[in-house]
Amino acid sequence: MAEIRLDKFLANRSNYSRSEVKSLLRNGAVRVDSVVESDGSRKIDPDAQLVTCQGKQIQGGSHLYLILNKPQGYICATEDRTHRTVLDLFPESLRIKGVFPAGRLDIDSTGLVLLTDDGKFAHDILAPGKHIPKYYLVKLRNPIGDSEISALAGGIVLSDQTHCLPAQAKAFPDGYALICLHEGKYHQVKRMFAALENHVESLHRVAVGGLILPENLRPGGYLELVHKDLVRMLKAPGFDSICEQILRNFSSYSINASP
Ligand code: URA
Repeated sequence: MAEIRLDKFLANRSNYSRSEVKSLLRNGAVRVDSVVESDGSRKIDPDAQLVTCQGKQIQGGSHLYLILNKPQGYICATEDRTHRTVLDLFPESLRIKGVFPAGRLDIDSTGLVLLTDDGKFAHDILAPGKHIPKYYLVKLRNPIGDSEISALAGGIVLSDQTHCLPAQAKAFPDGYALICLHEGKYHQVKRMFAALENHVESLHRVAVGGLILPENLRPGGYLELVHKDLVRMLKAPGFDSICEQILRNFSSYSINASP
């Protein structure tokens, strides 16, 4: 792990607030390799050094991973002058841990957003070479037919001549469709359907890799992930299996995804 400021490390890896960390440092409660350290700006290497606070070891390797059911009207950024950001949906105690959204959904899109303070994991999820599939439940102006499904499977060319990778899609009830992408170009789903002379009326991300957004997680609600969820995210079970699971709870997902 890279070097990190001692005060940031303590706030990220414990339940102490920043001001509590300051006073613990001031009061000599923090030790680095058994030596009292009161300077919060000191850089430490959590993999190589032992940090204790009031005699208890502060674990170095535990990053924070959250999934959010993003509502409309929020942007996937850590700060913005004009719009509310997804971080506004979290309490201060989590915001100060330094989490950021790993990947983007448009302001009017909804559904699964991963937030973490683990830059390497975020990179693995987003890296185009990793091809982690992302699944979107979309409400379309015209219900999807076989010719559109074949065109998506063959790789769509967008209006600016950008070539997209093959995408799997399936028609769902009530004019919805489930589409699976292995890449993440700007406004990609909307532009793909526009190239097919269709129109996306709403877009709800329901899964990343094998991790499915729980159907009962309310818009704006979030959950902390555990190790097995992260493994699931990196290991996709395949399009048919995800389709089946989304279809089983379609009424809950489509309420979330309604325009
Ligand atoms: N594709 C889009 O067009 N919008 C999103 O928010 C995500 C994928």
